[in-house]
Amino acid sequence: MILVTGATGRVGYRLLEALADTRAEAVAMVRVEAKGLDLPGPGENLVGTFDDPPAAEQLQAFDRVFLLSPSSETQAELEIVFIDALVAAGHRPHVVKVAADGFLDPGCDVRFMRSHREIARHLDATGLPASYLAPAPYMEMLLPAAAAIRREATLYAPAGHGTVGFVAAADVADAAAQLLTGPVPPAGDDPGVFTLTGPESLTYANVASRISAVFARQVRYANQPEDRAREELLGAGLAPWDAEGMLELFAWIRAGGAGQLTSHVREVTRHAPRGLNDWLEGSRAAFLEPPLDGAAPSY
Ligand SMILES: NC(=O)c1ccc[n+]([C@@H]2O[C@H](COP(=O)([O-])OP(=O)(O)OC[C@H]3O[C@@H](n4cnc5c(N)ncnc54)[C@H](OP(=O)(O)O)[C@@H]3O)[C@@H](O)[C@H]2O)c1
Repeated sequence: MILVTGATGRVGYRLLEALADTRAEAVAMVRVEAKGLDLPGPGENLVGTFDDPPAAEQLQAFDRVFLLSPSSETQAELEIVFIDALVAAGHRPHVVKVAADGFLDPGCDVRFMRSHREIARHLDATGLPASYLAPAPYMEMLLPAAAAIRREATLYAPAGHGTVGFVAAADVADAAAQLLTGPVPPAGDDPGVFTLTGPESLTYANVASRISAVFARQVRYANQPEDRAREELLGAGLAPWDAEGMLELFAWIRAGGAGQLTSHVREVTRHAPRGLNDWLEGSRAAFLEPPLDGAAPSY
């Protein structure tokens, strides 16, 4: 039986869909009962949070755990509490953790990656069988830029000329579904690390050209100065810790850190990674019509 955390989010929701398609037995962990009502699958939910995990007897029902929490100042603390609860339950489930590309590179000083590095050190030290998904920035990271694209036909980002191997959240979910339903890694094996990227490494100028082509409307890229980007991130409601994290992420992108491509999506999911043009087609509404509530930037 699989426990899916982060089940209401971008990756977790699609993971539940993928698991339902294969009729795998999965239960979503939700913070409050009501959040579980419209999730894909047979509708079995467990109420719990990372800092207030389900009881040991409940956790013991799961031999696979999908571990995903949002990036935040407390991410490492919360996931470590949850991992310790799994260890205390004593049944040694296989943990499939979502980290981020760059988390194993000590030279990558983006705070989001540092948090994942700290969690991975802790998880590895427990000796639980573990696998890591290390996605490139999601294509969904482009959604908060949609408002300025509609308004000013401009894609703003402090990304310089850096390239990004953008991956669709749906491909991260498909990879997770495969790992959670495949063989458990043998005890004592080093954890598998799967760096998930899309098929192309694109600059933001390339992305603006793709948006222009897909929506038949000329969109340009404007490289934003860091101070202006900070103002916008804070103005969009991000906490200072998260806003500084986004700026570190873009500095890493400008320095060429996010440009690598791998074949791991294809190897794990046995299908090609989704391309940006297809993703844009599928996200047409977000780029052409004002959303009911604007997408805030997040990682
Ligand atoms: N964005 C990117 O480009 C990118 C790239 C690579 C890696 N990542 C990594 O991907 C992860 C984010 O994935 P995502 O975009 O799918 O996340 P997301 O859409 O923000 O969803 C977060 C999920 O976590 C749940 N959650 C939040 N706080 C919780 C708590 N205290 N206890 C239990 N559940 C809690 C949320 O539930 P509620 O509905 O109750 O809030 C939601 O289901 C991060 O770890 C990030 O570092 C992101």
